[in-house]
Amino acid sequence: MDFFALTIFSGMFETFAAHGIIRRALESGRISMTPVNIRDYAAGRHRETDDRPYGGGSGMVMKPEPLAAAIKDARARCPEARTVLLSPRGTRFDQHAARKYAGCKGLIFVCGRYEGLDERICDGYIDDEISIGDYVLTGGELAAMVVMDAVIRHIPGTLGAEDAAECDSFSDQRLEHAHYTRPRFFEGRAVPDVLLSGNHREIEHWRMESALLQTLIRRPDLVENTGLTKQEKQVVKKWCRYLESLVSE
Ligand code: ADE
Repeated sequence: MDFFALTIFSGMFETFAAHGIIRRALESGRISMTPVNIRDYAAGRHRETDDRPYGGGSGMVMKPEPLAAAIKDARARCPEARTVLLSPRGTRFDQHAARKYAGCKGLIFVCGRYEGLDERICDGYIDDEISIGDYVLTGGELAAMVVMDAVIRHIPGTLGAEDAAECDSFSDQRLEHAHYTRPRFFEGRAVPDVLLSGNHREIEHWRMESALLQTLIRRPDLVENTGLTKQEKQVVKKWCRYLESLVSE
């Protein structure tokens, strides 16, 4: 899959590309990542990429011509790519969107700065406008890296264990179960016995219970969205019986 990041700060992507799973995905050829400096497409001696807003007011607006030229160039290199603008007014990015984007041939990220882009670029060149959350960043670069990271994990072969992304939090509207590693005892807390039992059925069941508990405590909205599975209902009934026993005289 081919990623392009249109930015005036292409250096921001260097560290991102140089570590861990992203680096391995690049080295294996499963992905390519091309930071594109919008300034290279700007005209004039000063290669300005922004200008004052029509109608007055504070802040600057990204000029349309360099952006259009940079997008056209990226599209010529990957004609099937979707063009995605990172912006706080976009639709909220989530795990479902990450999985969907992983099926694309390419993504061209447009990283806005200043007050934003000339609206004619949004109208004429942008396929999707997405936000990574209800807060305002100083530019779209970090958001583009967040989105790329989440998408790359869903490209087959990029993670160590082939099925690891399927076990992620949110993949089935549940947060992930708790994890433990050695030592068995740490600061007076022990690893749950079942995880040392070697009984895979019981371990799976414990993990399902743990995931449900984590989700109910931290993100009850996810459970409200999906309802409980038959197996989860049994677990909740068991908890209810237990809680009932605590309050009954
Ligand atoms: N650019 C600035 N803020 C952003 C956000 N919350 N999400 C995506 N892009 C942004």
